[in-house]
Amino acid sequence: MAIIEVQNLIKNYQMGKTVVHAVDNSSFSIEQGEFASVSGPSGSGKSTLLNLMGLIDLPTDGKIILNGTDVYAGYNLPDLKTLPAKLDRHITTLRRQNLGFIFQNFNLIQVLNVYENIELPLKLGELPPERAMTKAQSEEWINFLIDTVGLSEWKNHKPAELSGGQRQRVAIARALATKAPIIFADEPTANLDSKNGDQILQLMKNLNRELKTTFIFSTHDSKIVDMSTHVIKIRDGKVLSQEYAK
Ligand SMILES: Nc1ncnc2c1ncn2[C@@H]1O[C@H](COP(=O)(O)OP(=O)(O)OP(=O)(O)O)[C@@H](O)[C@H]1O
Ligand SMILES: [Mg+2]
Repeated sequence: MAIIEVQNLIKNYQMGKTVVHAVDNSSFSIEQGEFASVSGPSGSGKSTLLNLMGLIDLPTDGKIILNGTDVYAGYNLPDLKTLPAKLDRHITTLRRQNLGFIFQNFNLIQVLNVYENIELPLKLGELPPERAMTKAQSEEWINFLIDTVGLSEWKNHKPAELSGGQRQRVAIARALATKAPIIFADEPTANLDSKNGDQILQLMKNLNRELKTTFIFSTHDSKIVDMSTHVIKIRDGKVLSQEYAK
């Protein structure tokens, strides 16, 4: 069964009098355990598509089926001007339980230090019982993540004191914190040197193998594309082609 499926997904942005078709009637599905990439030139809609799949933005129309749940069932998307409270709660729970997200602009909490930023998704709770961690287990796991992304010495520092690449590594560790079954990563290696980028890709590949975590990247990085089991090429918000690794 597909872990995530999008059907005829549309996202339009109104820019003054013109409409930008950022995602234009796209359909595809991703199976559990895939290491999938959305690739395409700048402005082709990769971030928009990931934000829709990650339940961060509301589609203009279409369907997103997450782990068998039709996320917006019962709502007529084109009519929604604001998010009804009940749908908002439903989406928040689905997101906290199932999804991790590495944003292109990191979205770290400025008043929290590295450790606290990474710990945050675990503190928000709502994890299914099989993934709940005791305080000691979560401490060990967060410290392991901090170590793996090479930030042990920066553990008590705040984002403003970190370089771009270091912030990106905090964002990566935070997205992995809950061991969510699906991780979206928007250009995760764009601000990293090749050694750090390789280490982080290896960490993701290991989680992919060991926990069957599904990764969905948006990327220009040919290294990520080469490691991917499924590449979805997009142009102007449309799916151009899909390739699966043999
Ligand atoms: N909030 C917004 N308001 C208006 N237009 C937007 C908004 N977000 C994205 N767009 C437009 O949608 C299109 C797709 O943008 P998107 O950020 O998804 O591209 P991308 O493929 O991620 O590009 P990049 O590789 O540069 O990150 C672009 O034309 C962009 O200008
Ligand atoms: Mg982008």
